[in-house]
Amino acid sequence: MSVTPPPVPARRKITTRTLRRMKAEGRKIVSLTAYDAITAALLEEAGVEVILVGDSAGMVVAGRRDTLSVTLDEILLMTSWVAGGVENALLVADMPFLTYQVNPDEAVRNAGRLLAEGGAEAVKLEGGRHIVPTIQRLVTTGIPVMGHLGLTPQSIHSFGGWHLQGTDTADAEKLMEDARLLQEAGAFSIVLEKIPAPLATRVSDELEIPTIGIGAGAGCDGQVLVTHDLLGLFTAFKPRFVRRYAELAGEIRTAVEHYVDDVRNGGFPTEDESFFPDQG
Ligand code: KIV
Repeated sequence: MSVTPPPVPARRKITTRTLRRMKAEGRKIVSLTAYDAITAALLEEAGVEVILVGDSAGMVVAGRRDTLSVTLDEILLMTSWVAGGVENALLVADMPFLTYQVNPDEAVRNAGRLLAEGGAEAVKLEGGRHIVPTIQRLVTTGIPVMGHLGLTPQSIHSFGGWHLQGTDTADAEKLMEDARLLQEAGAFSIVLEKIPAPLATRVSDELEIPTIGIGAGAGCDGQVLVTHDLLGLFTAFKPRFVRRYAELAGEIRTAVEHYVDDVRNGGFPTEDESFFPDQG
């Protein structure tokens, strides 16, 4: 007697509502960055719920010193690539520096392009109380917004380096209030970057919307990392909050060194890897 295995249940589409439900049910949200379709598809297959086209691409893909020079066109192109690899994960695109800070009208136009042309389903923007009117405009336009507080990389020159944020009482209270204001403005989630774990736990406990931490401890409702950090592809530096689950830079170097050797010593290609007239 043959036993037919039960059908594998289709993965459900992740939406902003799913994330809210996950928080309510105490289920952790898993997020990673992607900048191309192949990687995005692999992340989704592995169970990642939120795929972020981060402006971290400026550093880990383009090799620049910070994220400030990333343009809307660059994020737009990468978002359209990632959209080709994503079916069920929530696709969030970062709004680059100066694409949302000037005024809410520009923000709506630029965010709208990320959704309409890029295929994003939400945008992420950095900052607290000063961008509340922009978030309100985006949300009323129908564009879901993820906030980003703490060490916001687009303000790196104001911070004077990649320092831990929210360390004194005044800064911690300001961040807590900013988080409340972002929630009231309609943000569906907030990334908390490089702040003390107890502060991130407090923000997570007080908010109804989920927090996604990066360098913010285990009390957040979810975690995000830059995929090139997690895979050990970006090795220029390693923040304390990064855990490398692979050492791909070394593996790639070794593989390419073998190829270089094989080509130089005639070991590649073999006859099996070549064509002959009768095989046409
Ligand atoms: O740009 C990015 O990848 C990000 C994440 C690190 C949150 O903003």
